Amino acid sequence: MSQHHKQHPRRYLHALALLTALTPQTTAQENHNSKRGLAYVGNTHGTDNALLTSTKSPISWYYNWSPYPPSQVPSQNLEFVPLIHGVDGASDPQTARQIDSLPQSSTHLLSFNEPDGTTGSGGSAIEPDDAAKAYIEHIVPLRERGRKWKISHPSTTGSGNGLDWLRKFNESCYKIDKQNGCPTDFIAAHWYGNFEGLAGWLGTLNEYYNTNTSRNPPLKIWITELALPQLDADANAQMMNQTLPYLDSQDYVEKYSWFGAFRPQDANGWTGDGVALFDGDGGLTKVGALYMGGENRGFKEGQRGEEGGDGVQDGARHMSISWGLLLSLTFAAGIFSTL
Ligand SMILES: *[C@@H]1O[C@H](CO)[C@@H](O)[C@H](O)[C@H]1NC(C)=O
Ligand SMILES: *[C@@H]1O[C@H](CO)[C@@H](O)[C@H](O)[C@H]1NC(C)=O
Ligand SMILES: *[C@@H]1O[C@H](CO)[C@@H](O)[C@H](O)[C@H]1NC(C)=O
Repeated sequence: MSQHHKQHPRRYLHALALLTALTPQTTAQENHNSKRGLAYVGNTHGTDNALLTSTKSPISWYYNWSPYPPSQVPSQNLEFVPLIHGVDGASDPQTARQIDSLPQSSTHLLSFNEPDGTTGSGGSAIEPDDAAKAYIEHIVPLRERGRKWKISHPSTTGSGNGLDWLRKFNESCYKIDKQNGCPTDFIAAHWYGNFEGLAGWLGTLNEYYNTNTSRNPPLKIWITELALPQLDADANAQMMNQTLPYLDSQDYVEKYSWFGAFRPQDANGWTGDGVALFDGDGGLTKVGALYMGGENRGFKEGQRGEEGGDGVQDGARHMSISWGLLLSLTFAAGIFSTL
């Protein structure tokens, strides 16, 4: 507090009272602080999107594996996080123009998706050397461009391959730039498996990036894909019930997004439909109700979103075709270990 304020405690208190009165006690505020996000695969059901983006929703941000926000999700309340999937996207001049045109609420950018994974499973299959080159040439300059983007290192699969890839990537980075390597503002991770495995993987990444480098302040981690594949809804609900409080309580975890914002019929064969937030009729599953904050927040199993609610534009059917294709290719990712 400044000297000035000390001399005028009453005026200060009045100002404080006014400020408190003016601060909207809305969930938008809570939303903003929520770590919870949406890995958006292109759900074409308007009521599902309406529910996910309704005012009581704990979801504060979303991404769709691309720099182009989906037209079905209104972005006013949610922070859209662009992702540059691979080297082609990184070197395309249209990509930088596109991210420049995003709303100012977009501040963070995700880079290469599962470079240690195959393209057949949604990965970008990039050699560490090539990734380092493209990252330094195209991604790092975004930190100085326009709004000064906060950039992430590539998000690998949650496996030994992932860590191995990151080590090689780091070596390649320092071969190219002896001073700076590949600077990053945060880390993005994927996890498909049980809770203990997730905690172990995050611990490993935290050790690799923070503990072992004595990095201060430590880099924060975003878990951008997360689910318990090939098991039923009960197993997923139990895993999520254990996971969400843990992630919310870890300071080094900044954001996370569950992989499952779809109905069972839109799930891919690899994860199975136990991960789905919605049932076949668009009601919340047990998993969905939990992710939305449960009954405390006004969400229960079976609940549906409102028709045309909260400014959702339904349709964009053409999107579903490309998404269906992408979906079938994507996210068989992650190594199915430690179940
Ligand atoms: C961190 O350092 C210890 C000690 O050198 C090493 O055994 C461990 O493998 C390192 N962890 C990671 C994730 O690289
Ligand atoms: C990357 O390599 C550099 C140079 O060898 C090293 O100082 C740094 O600790 C490594 N970074 C990580 C995260 O291991
Ligand atoms: C989550 O865990 C709490 C206590 O740990 C329990 O009361 C609740 O029923 C669980 N919910 C689900 C959906 O498993």
